[in-house]
Amino acid sequence: MRIDIITLFPQLLRSPFEASIVKRAIDAEKVEVVFHDPRDFTNSKHKQVDDAPFGGGAGMVMMIEPIDKCISKLKTERTYDEIIYMTPDGEQLNQKIANECSLKGNIIILCGHYKGVDQRVRDHFITREISIGDFVLSGGELAAAVFCDSIIRLIPGVLGNESSALSDSYQDNLLAPPIYTRPAKYKDWEVPSILTSGNTPAVELWREEQAFERTQRLRPDLLEE
Ligand code: ADE
Repeated sequence: MRIDIITLFPQLLRSPFEASIVKRAIDAEKVEVVFHDPRDFTNSKHKQVDDAPFGGGAGMVMMIEPIDKCISKLKTERTYDEIIYMTPDGEQLNQKIANECSLKGNIIILCGHYKGVDQRVRDHFITREISIGDFVLSGGELAAAVFCDSIIRLIPGVLGNESSALSDSYQDNLLAPPIYTRPAKYKDWEVPSILTSGNTPAVELWREEQAFERTQRLRPDLLEE
């Protein structure tokens, strides 16, 4: 998979790609992530990439020309399965969307900033708009980092043990069961004895029951889906 990220603030985005599972995926060439700055695609003397909105109002709007030039150049180099705009009014990210997007070949992610992008960018280039929740961030960069993490870890072969992604919360519409590690007793707090019993089928059953009980208690809406 190749992910091209168009952003005015790549510094907001670098560190999530420099550690842990995502870094391992990049090092193993399961995914390539490339940043592009719209300022490199403007002819304006002062590298202007935003301007005041037509009709007035507060804030600045990202201009169409640098984004058009950036996307158009990328499209001459390879074909893209999806050109995604991170925006609070997009469809809300969930595990189903992450699964779907983890199977794509090449994608572009556009991060909005300030008031967002000129609507014509959305009308003519964007194939999908994604939100990470009903709240407004200062820009799309942190949302893009969340989205990329959610899809990169699902690329086949990225997680050492493939089944560990399958047992994640939400993968089967159930929250994950409680999990423990050594020591079995810390202060007065003991691990459920079933987990140290060595009885694998009983442990599996216990985990399923716990996952179901947790989902019923905390997210009953997931069971209705
Ligand atoms: N940009 C600003 N807020 C956002 C959000 N909640 N999701 C995606 N992109 C955003």
